[in-house]
Amino acid sequence: MSIARLIDILATQNAALEAAYAKIGKAAPDLETPERLGVGDSDFEVARIRQTLVAAANQIIQTVRPAGETLLLETFGVLSTNALGIAEEFNIADVIAEAGPEGLHVDAISAKAGLDVPSVERILRYLATRHIFKEVKPNVFVNNRISELMRKNKPLKEIIAKPNSRYENSSLATAISLVNDDFVPVAPYLSKFVRDPGEWETPFNMAHQTQAKLWDWYGQPGNEYRMNRFAAFMKSAGSEFPEEIISDAIAALSLPPGSVVVDLGASTGHATLTMYRSFPNLKYIVEDLPELESVARNFWNSEAPEALTNGTVTIKPHSFLEPQPVKNASVYFFRVTLHNWPDKKVVDILRHLRDAAGPNSKLVALEAPQGHTCVMSGQKSQVPEPLLENLGIGGTSLFGPLDLQMWIMFNARERTEENFRSIGAASGWKLESAKPGILTTYTFSVV
Ligand SMILES: C[S@@+](CC[C@H](N)C(=O)[O-])C[C@H]1O[C@@H](n2cnc3c(N)ncnc32)[C@H](O)[C@@H]1O
Repeated sequence: MSIARLIDILATQNAALEAAYAKIGKAAPDLETPERLGVGDSDFEVARIRQTLVAAANQIIQTVRPAGETLLLETFGVLSTNALGIAEEFNIADVIAEAGPEGLHVDAISAKAGLDVPSVERILRYLATRHIFKEVKPNVFVNNRISELMRKNKPLKEIIAKPNSRYENSSLATAISLVNDDFVPVAPYLSKFVRDPGEWETPFNMAHQTQAKLWDWYGQPGNEYRMNRFAAFMKSAGSEFPEEIISDAIAALSLPPGSVVVDLGASTGHATLTMYRSFPNLKYIVEDLPELESVARNFWNSEAPEALTNGTVTIKPHSFLEPQPVKNASVYFFRVTLHNWPDKKVVDILRHLRDAAGPNSKLVALEAPQGHTCVMSGQKSQVPEPLLENLGIGGTSLFGPLDLQMWIMFNARERTEENFRSIGAASGWKLESAKPGILTTYTFSVV
């Protein structure tokens, strides 16, 4: 009964998705066609259709697959991370791309990538089984919609000759490298940490036997490449989120020309760039740690140098753990930054902003949506039965792991609307609205 109902949901939502694509003259996504962002990525209504399809499909899988197989597959998850890490490290998506549409045999991939044939064959078979790469003939592989995103988008020769700049044009290769190098070694410490944190603030501290915060550790000599890789990761991961989330959040405030927007923990300021392009008549301050200043300058010099020279955008090294120097800004803006801090620290950070704010200042935070899997008592379900209320991995596919990742690296978390309301109340900010979207837009005014 439940499966028949789920199949109905699939049929209805698939028709809705095809209609949405047809409306803009495009075909619905298929696995072969590389496409970075589809129609649904910028339109939350359409994204909900896509999320509902994934939720229903996954619920069918979880229902019909033997329960033990599901548990074991989840338990083996770290091997997928490793397999992706090897494919990334040996540039396999770029090697295959250079061969053209016919694809490449594992023998040739091995010779070009510098990885032995059995390893190439096993990694590619494992990933192709998960629809990452496609095996077109026995042992001959091409890229597909998913593996395309692993490319570094540079000639292989250049990737190998200049490893320090290999992620410049990449999309998610950076994320795969970062997760494998910086996060995976820390993950096993979570179980030790929850039993007894000892002297350590985070599992990350316990793993590296350091009291330094991740950001300070990135700033230490020898870790410069990690800091740069993280900035490249935020730029590429950030571009997976539709730009409309940012521009809609600013548009909703109807700011007069010349209003000042401070982007805190901005990294290079790629979210600011989106605002600047949509609202060039506002003024922007890009704040992050001093170590990122030169990366941010390079970014603006290549993307919009005029913004720096005409004073529309100012790059200002500043730690948000200190009193905020920009007083009475119209907007203090964060994108996926507060989730890096435990509640007590977020209250400190927001108090500094409250002290700097004027009576009409707003605080805007774009953060990952978090919700219960069941309906809240007294409320009506917003999703078709029998789906999970948060659409399971359809609705929170990335943000579930991100919540745990915030835990291992920062002892921090993704937050619900209620969490944000109480953090605001403790720091002098009133939560005015929480606009749902691929990221939720939380807007606060001063109390
Ligand atoms: C998860 S990234 C988010 C970057 C950016 N907001 C975005 O959406 O791409 C968090 C950022 O916070 C910055 N950060 C960490 N500690 C900071 C501090 N004390 N003051 C200012 N920025 C900080 C990091 O350098 C990093 O760029």
